[in-house]
Amino acid sequence: MSEETRHPAPRRVLSGMRPTGKLHLGNYMGALKNWVELQNATNEDGAPKYECYFFIADYHALTTDYADTSRLQESTLDVALDFLAAGLDPDKSTLFVQSDVPQHAELHLLLSMITPLSWLERVPTYKDQQEQLKQKDLNTYGFLGYPLLQSADILVYQPDFVPVGQDQVAHVEITREIARRFNQFYSPKRLVSTDPTSLAEETDPTKLILPEPEVLLTPSPKLPGIDGRKMSKSYGNTILMSDHPAIVSEKMSGMSNGGQRNPQSEPGNPDICPVGEMHILFSAPQVRSFTRKGCMDAAIPCSQCKWMAAESINLQMHDVRVNREQLERSPDRVWEVLEDGSKRSSARAEQTMKEVRQAVGLSRRPLADISRLKRAYNASEANHEGHDLSAEAAFWDQEPALRAKNVREYWLSNIVPSEIRLKQDSDRVFVTRKNKRVYVTTSRENLDSRWGFESKTKSYEMLALLCWDKEFRLHDFIVPLIAYQIPWFAYKKTHKNEVMIFWVTRTDSRFLLELPEASPIDITEYRGQYKPMS
Ligand code: TRP
Repeated sequence: MSEETRHPAPRRVLSGMRPTGKLHLGNYMGALKNWVELQNATNEDGAPKYECYFFIADYHALTTDYADTSRLQESTLDVALDFLAAGLDPDKSTLFVQSDVPQHAELHLLLSMITPLSWLERVPTYKDQQEQLKQKDLNTYGFLGYPLLQSADILVYQPDFVPVGQDQVAHVEITREIARRFNQFYSPKRLVSTDPTSLAEETDPTKLILPEPEVLLTPSPKLPGIDGRKMSKSYGNTILMSDHPAIVSEKMSGMSNGGQRNPQSEPGNPDICPVGEMHILFSAPQVRSFTRKGCMDAAIPCSQCKWMAAESINLQMHDVRVNREQLERSPDRVWEVLEDGSKRSSARAEQTMKEVRQAVGLSRRPLADISRLKRAYNASEANHEGHDLSAEAAFWDQEPALRAKNVREYWLSNIVPSEIRLKQDSDRVFVTRKNKRVYVTTSRENLDSRWGFESKTKSYEMLALLCWDKEFRLHDFIVPLIAYQIPWFAYKKTHKNEVMIFWVTRTDSRFLLELPEASPIDITEYRGQYKPMS
């Protein structure tokens, strides 16, 4: 087996956007559209190529807008609506709000201890923005720390890639420098000298706590605003993703033509015309060549060319706009999506923070080696959540198939909320009302305080893992596909038709799902969470 198939590295992707209110076409073409493509990218076998985390950076909004926070929530909801309308899918990507995941703030604090002031002062956006936003007092600690907070946002997920536009490259660069500095101070060391009396050591590159992420440069086409300058909220020259077609037409009718064709009988040059740039980005080839020729021959007036550009924009944005109108009717559903996402992202961020606290020397209890957790069961540390199954203790020693059947039946009639009507499809597969397939499997805690399971690597929309512990408590985890799909499909790819063995282990009060050849997945948050079945 090659190194690569043994460690199918999930390529983790993370990016964020400030809650600036309704997003405009520049945000869409320069970031969001690309995020949707990353989310939907698959390998030949259909497995997703990336594990995507996208978030709304509301702490970052405070760095410049701390004096008036009255629109922060509304802006956050607006951005979330645009995310979903554009095609970000909470079943495929983890979508969340930065301030719902306090690990960002915690890592920011720890990184601030090791960050030289001069590094922050020399970030180009620091002086630029202070100049540009003169009406605000940005001589604050928080504003200087903007790029450091961004570094924490990124590093707390240990991602492989950060898709951003050119304007954010400097921020990812400082993130890499900070990761390097952190690793120098705190990542494990190894001896480098062959001379046994020498104690020279260096950071062990195989055990870096904060790996350096790479920029995935978003090809950001230059998108002009209606005055011909770069489209930007601060210039007031935007067309919104959600603008009604009539508004788009009206805005476009007033778009700059670069000061040409004056009078209209003169020919123009589409290559130096903002409207020409819009055609390049939005129009079909026939429309593009028709307007191009019409401009250069002075055969059509600018008004017609602008109207046709508006039509092209409206055509491309139609679905997005309709999706948004629908979503706007149920904002609660959108907040739920974000809440759900923050649970998943918190679990991932906490995994990093455990290592970070330990490395920095803050953690009081040594971190168990979670991939080989073999600590003897210790009743005093037992987690007292879970359902009391002591009345059914007789199941414990039954022959495995019978025990599984009995535990499953107990679970169905006593634990699964009554409004969820699961239909049994086969021995271990149940189907929800929305036709989602659930693999229901049970296990008894073994002498190593682990639960062993087996499954065929089929596509189930969720796993119901029923872990029965030695205190006769049943811990029920409803794990959605998004949490396990990457290692699951990676295993499936390399072990066609084999049965997969996997484990749940318990460390302190966390439960970890250990799929083969993958890092453990913290499933604690999924205990008793039946929402995905409803
Ligand atoms: N600074 C980014 C912007 O203005 C937003 C952002 C905050 C971000 N944290 C991030 C982007 C982390 C990528 C990764 O667009």
